[in-house]
Amino acid sequence: MKIKSVGIVGAGNVGVAGAYAIYLQQLCSEIILVDLDKARAEGEALDLMHGQGITGRVKVKAGDYADLTDCDVIIVTAGAAQKPGETRLDLLNKNAAIFKSITAELDQYAPNAIVVIASNPVDILTYIFQELSSRPNSKVIGTGTVLDTSRLKSLLSEHYDVDPASIHGYILGEHGDSEFAAWSTITIGGVSVVGNEVLGIAYNQQDIDQLYEHVKSAAYKIIAAKGYTNWAIGVVLAKLVSLLLSDRASVQPISVRLTGEYGIKDVCISVPAKIGIKGVEQIVELNLSKDELRKLRISADVLKANLAGIDL
Ligand code: 2OP
Repeated sequence: MKIKSVGIVGAGNVGVAGAYAIYLQQLCSEIILVDLDKARAEGEALDLMHGQGITGRVKVKAGDYADLTDCDVIIVTAGAAQKPGETRLDLLNKNAAIFKSITAELDQYAPNAIVVIASNPVDILTYIFQELSSRPNSKVIGTGTVLDTSRLKSLLSEHYDVDPASIHGYILGEHGDSEFAAWSTITIGGVSVVGNEVLGIAYNQQDIDQLYEHVKSAAYKIIAAKGYTNWAIGVVLAKLVSLLLSDRASVQPISVRLTGEYGIKDVCISVPAKIGIKGVEQIVELNLSKDELRKLRISADVLKANLAGIDL
């Protein structure tokens, strides 16, 4: 039987957090770290490898693009990261240039792998990767608002004192400043958060608006405090890898190319989509409120305006 192998391009804070989460959960047999700084990738690989006596057997090694040939899933975290005061969109020009060479390398050595983009601005870089790559768009996804949705569930879990697994619903749109909470989708134990007392906590629009503001500003706050974000995106990466390798047909708010759904096309943006071993299998068309649909389209326009300035 073919062993399951995951490649990670970029062994910086996010790449290593992803590798660590995948390693701890033993989601594959082999993790290959590729980084321009080969010594760093080798150091990180060795450091992870040495936990095998406790975690169990998962090979971790540093490699070149040519070593990614047998990977089922390849995560891309390479590129400049947000600095204090920068938005995700500020990174666009620097990372678009880096992506041209990454796409060419991955197309040459691993044309069949599913590619998961985590570098920012994730929606635009997912679109650029799709445009430049010869693999089908269904095999190139962005982490999108899986992270923001997890952030919201974590905050709602505190507010309502309930397991985040009992909370459903999504943050949608750009993984960035124009994202929005699709409150019409957000339920706890099946009860809509908007307009209802839930688990003995009265409905208060101001409180839930504040939770959403915390989600939107979370990355800025963490970057101001520690310089980067990595642990939560690391577990998002492991979650997506587990779903893509195990074909569980899970629906997640990932960044996908829309082709007319929600009246939007020619852009990658987060909406719920069903994913499995073939990548994106189906896009879910939610019955959004008029206001939510408007916000999704505004977010798509923000992304398109930024894409327009890129010379592919
Ligand atoms: C995050 O939201 C910076 O996009 C990264 O943590």
